[in-house]
Amino acid sequence: MNDDLLVTYQLAPSILSANFSRLEEEVGKVMAAGVRVIHVDVMDGHFVPNITIGPVVVDWIRDQVHEGGGVLDVHLMIDGPERYIDAFAAAGSDWINVHAETCKHLNAVLAQIRAAGCRAGVTLNPATPLATIQEVTGDIDFALMMTVNPGFSGQQFIASVLPKIRRARMLLPDTVGLEVDGGVATGTIEAALDTGANLFVAGSAVFGAPDPAAAARELIEAMRKRKEFAD
Ligand code: DX5
Ligand code: ZN
Repeated sequence: MNDDLLVTYQLAPSILSANFSRLEEEVGKVMAAGVRVIHVDVMDGHFVPNITIGPVVVDWIRDQVHEGGGVLDVHLMIDGPERYIDAFAAAGSDWINVHAETCKHLNAVLAQIRAAGCRAGVTLNPATPLATIQEVTGDIDFALMMTVNPGFSGQQFIASVLPKIRRARMLLPDTVGLEVDGGVATGTIEAALDTGANLFVAGSAVFGAPDPAAAARELIEAMRKRKEFAD
């Protein structure tokens, strides 16, 4: 697994917005455009109102993503995630992130993800305080800050989360990645980049565009410019 992907600028298109009848082609398009992180949104109809993807879908695309040098970034929006972590790991997940709001024993769940051979992430809803992860910063490989309330793609970016993301970057060690998810598009990625985050999920902005490869390239270009500026 290429762990540089955790701490470099990466676009993570969410296959939730892809056409599932030709998933391989959709994933192929964005990987050809330079994408190396494929985001998988798992919803259970309990923690969030929607029901989406199970481990079988991860298994369908695992070889394609890994052979292209990429990783599968699995976002579990489910109650009791500890019940499914091993199944998602066995299906080929590389990064697994759980919502802090769903874990009674967050430290134990993060240890379970790592024991399953995956990189461990923790996600916070827009209204969940950053202090929720203060005591587990040494137990995670990345943190994900939601900029929409989870459940659906195509929602509007909640800009009031930006100061929390900035504070997250200050709280987390440099070796821990910082991901932003929800409403990321050409009009919002600049503000998200300003926070110091390095991983950007985009669902509808990529797979909802007429040309997903071109849309991905445009967002990657925004990151590349920022990197040059930082250098
Ligand atoms: C929201 C999901 C997101 C979503 C992103 O519950 O976690 O990953 O699919 O979609 P957009 O980029 O359209 O907000
Ligand atoms: Zn997501």
